[in-house]
Amino acid sequence: MRETIYLLRLPFRRIYVLPQKYINEYAWKPDDHISSNTDLYERLLGRWTYVGSLTPDDPNGPYNWVVEYVRSELTKQISFYLPAVQEDVASYFHAHTASDNDKTTLPVHDFCIGLCFALYQRIFVGKELARDPEWKAACVELGLSSVGVAGSLMRVPTWLRPAAATFMSGPRHVKANVRRMEAKIRPILTERLENKHRGDIEPPRDFIQWWIQKSIAVGRDPDNLSALVVALIQLNFAGIRSTGLGVMQSFVDIAVHPEYTDDLRAELERVRSTNGREELTVPSLAKLEKMDSFIKESARHVAQNVLSVYRKALRPLRLSDGTVLPAQSYVCVPSIDPDADQETATRPFDGFRWYRQRIEQPDQGARFLSVSSNAQALEFGAGPHACPGRFLAVAVIKAAVAHALTHYELRLPSAQKPKVPQYNHVLVYTPDTKQKVEFVRRI
Ligand code: HEM
Repeated sequence: MRETIYLLRLPFRRIYVLPQKYINEYAWKPDDHISSNTDLYERLLGRWTYVGSLTPDDPNGPYNWVVEYVRSELTKQISFYLPAVQEDVASYFHAHTASDNDKTTLPVHDFCIGLCFALYQRIFVGKELARDPEWKAACVELGLSSVGVAGSLMRVPTWLRPAAATFMSGPRHVKANVRRMEAKIRPILTERLENKHRGDIEPPRDFIQWWIQKSIAVGRDPDNLSALVVALIQLNFAGIRSTGLGVMQSFVDIAVHPEYTDDLRAELERVRSTNGREELTVPSLAKLEKMDSFIKESARHVAQNVLSVYRKALRPLRLSDGTVLPAQSYVCVPSIDPDADQETATRPFDGFRWYRQRIEQPDQGARFLSVSSNAQALEFGAGPHACPGRFLAVAVIKAAVAHALTHYELRLPSAQKPKVPQYNHVLVYTPDTKQKVEFVRRI
């Protein structure tokens, strides 16, 4: 079964699901042959949701800049952002857990998404706007409207979508929220442009500033508000929910498997005492090997994606077994665990599985890290378009887990067991938003 190519029929989209062994035969091909951008734009209805590249061939289009920013500047600056991330994690916990009560029961999905929203906004648009409730409302409402629009239009034939969209309220809500975001960014962009030649002002290190500098460097108008807001929408779309679900799953697994807690805490204490301070640095995060394994195992056993490495073939794709998929085909591979039991398609949770594998195969150690991306680890995709944000995402998840383990015991409410993971009609993970976790204060 694992050697077979399947044709998956989704509403108005047919996708070839290839065996995982074919990843290297398509994921590394150049963009003018196998396109990630075009797939994303069509799959997520970018024309109405602003997700994916609106201009895949333009190297200076907002989406390509987002990818460049995440791959270069954002990843290089993780050390710079890490203290702010830890500060935000601490203050978010402080604000949401009662100080005069030793136990707080939280709806863990909303808590984790809210946490990631807060700390990513500080990195993308600066601390002030990150704390502005109107900005948050515009971003959240835009996200909800986009999901609604994509969900509805997906059920309409491709040729009918432009007409159908004119009769729907969703696209108008999306646009209205884009305008709200633009109104909030306008004064900041204007001020930054006015200050750009002033030597006495240290420029902030956020995405807005990177955008201005990049525009100037390539001779584009930095005062392009609508393109900047589209880029911010795409950054939010890529980073917040995915990281939030990673944090959520780690918290749920700590609560479900308390037998790992002592080992995880002992490792944390050892790393902190070697480091000589409570605050974690990038090198100390790398030493949290058991925690890394636990996070990776959490992501494996409740996968955010059933399918991964979605691409569109712009030209025919010839596979090594002689199969030729025609131009305009969509392809992907299953991202489920290749080593899962054939019958049950699962493997039991083993939090230190990857830690042991690193020790047993030191020459292959990097393959077992939570940030690794390869045919056996598809949580972050694979090839040149594998997730460039994964280094920051794992740093954020570790910072959140470290804070939670240090200050709280995590437990599930006695009447609540985690549900079997659910995936919707287009095979996207739909987390249990009612799942609660109890945070019992330790220190
Ligand atoms: C646990 C958190 C995350 C998960 C599970 C995740 C997962 C993914 C996956 C599966 C892809 C598609 C890769 C492929 O098709 O080969 C992707 C792409 C991408 N992700 Fe992430 N991601 C996460 C966090 C982030 C963060 C924090 C950012 C940025 C702030 C980010 C930015 C991106 C971008 C820009 C792309 C598109 C890359 C390209 O087209 O070349 N991601 N991510």
